[in-house]
Amino acid sequence: MKAKEYLSILQEILHHIDEGVHVLDRNGNTIIYNESMSRLEKMETNEVMKKPFGEVFKNLNSENSTLLKALKYGVPTFNLNQTYLNKYGKEIKTINTTFPVVINGQIIAVVEIAKNITKMAEMSQIILKLRNEIGGPEKAKNKRIKKYNFNNILGNSRNFVNVIQRARKASENSASVFIFGETGTGKELIAQSIHYEGIRKNKTFIAQNCAALPGSLLEGLLFGTEKGGFTGAVDRAGLFEQANGGTLLLDEINSMPYELQAKLLRVLQENYIRRVGGTMDIPIDVRIIATSNEPPEVILKENKIRKDLYYRLNVIQLNIPPLRDRKDDVLMFANMFMHKYNNKFNKKILSISKEAQDSLLKYDYPGNVRELENIIMSAISMADDDEITLNKNHFTYFNLDREHINIEYCMGDTGINEYLEDLEKKIIENALKGNGHNVTKSAEALKIKRQTLQHKIKKYGIKF
Ligand SMILES: Nc1ncnc2c1ncn2[C@@H]1O[C@H](COP(=O)(O)OP(=O)(O)OP(=O)(O)O)[C@@H](O)[C@H]1O
Ligand SMILES: [Mg+2]
Repeated sequence: MKAKEYLSILQEILHHIDEGVHVLDRNGNTIIYNESMSRLEKMETNEVMKKPFGEVFKNLNSENSTLLKALKYGVPTFNLNQTYLNKYGKEIKTINTTFPVVINGQIIAVVEIAKNITKMAEMSQIILKLRNEIGGPEKAKNKRIKKYNFNNILGNSRNFVNVIQRARKASENSASVFIFGETGTGKELIAQSIHYEGIRKNKTFIAQNCAALPGSLLEGLLFGTEKGGFTGAVDRAGLFEQANGGTLLLDEINSMPYELQAKLLRVLQENYIRRVGGTMDIPIDVRIIATSNEPPEVILKENKIRKDLYYRLNVIQLNIPPLRDRKDDVLMFANMFMHKYNNKFNKKILSISKEAQDSLLKYDYPGNVRELENIIMSAISMADDDEITLNKNHFTYFNLDREHINIEYCMGDTGINEYLEDLEKKIIENALKGNGHNVTKSAEALKIKRQTLQHKIKKYGIKF
């Protein structure tokens, strides 16, 4: 590719990305200042471009500017939280990475990339404020948090009952719990039951999803902030302080940034926290329940969780089996949800037809109990008021009969080509069988030409 074309592509990228980019040449003159940076700093591009940095940003020097520091000393700065006022006096929060570009030992340029997190910081403040308003357990009792206990957890499959027995034991102490289960298997249900039926039931239960916010905001949310600290202009208690004496559910712990995991580990080992920007150590006593919807061995292998943190959290491990591994419970759940939505939608359905039951039992439920609940809810809502049986056509929308193919499992040691050929052969054999071995009809069903089908029949040596 020609250098000119390459340059055009880079210019397009700079024009469209959300991150602000500011580049100085070796003499400290601005050579790149993209639109996002201009929006962020509320500076016109032509106020900055081709001008010496020091002339435009008069109050910055090589001690307080990361760009000038990189230029003068060759020092990079990674993920620096910055809070500043733009020229309209609005507080802007960014996360900046600044580094020199070095060729043959010479700095030829310095680059600053700034991510605007003002909106997210504001949102995290709102979350904290709302959480503070909900307040302690007394207030929470009457407010929006839906509280579950073990009576709400249904299931008689042996593998599931074993997990629930362990969870009940866990509620008798305050040890950390690590819950692994696919989406919709009831992790939240179990975590809440451990709290609300356990020795901490009169204290606060708070759940926080670790995937919901970037690391620096999550840190402020968990540990609180102090005036002058990065995340907030005000002093505010974090979730650890709010949940003191109670339980903190850290959902999707595998999405927590690695550096923050180290801080969390320190808190769990030392039992005190320090607010972001603060100097005081605040003792805390919080039970941690962490969840992951990916298996522990996978998140360990892929370094999504620190080993030391995992072992610290994994005092009690609860592995919730997916619904497809406890098929004994499928019809029980189906009936239970049927009654629930009969009441909700004012229907009078009394049973599920044998055929529909078979479909429900055959299905593999990637969304687990939550998905089954949705399937039944939808089927009930589709039924007419005078129907007393749910039958297969109430479920058509969900394609319960699709053949579940676990590709990795099926593929075994063969490569993809061999695997696909095998699959194609099977599909053709099925089509022939289903169409009375009539090649024309089978070709129509497969939506391919008759000749193509004949060719494939020959290729695979299909006999019929
Ligand atoms: N054993 C169960 N008994 C009754 N209801 C259940 C059971 N398991 C799950 N559910 C229902 O399934 C839904 C999903 O449960 P929950 O929110 O606890 O799942 P989760 O594992 O936390 O999922 P995600 O990973 O998506 O957050 C809830 O509506 C819950 O009521
Ligand atoms: Mg959940």
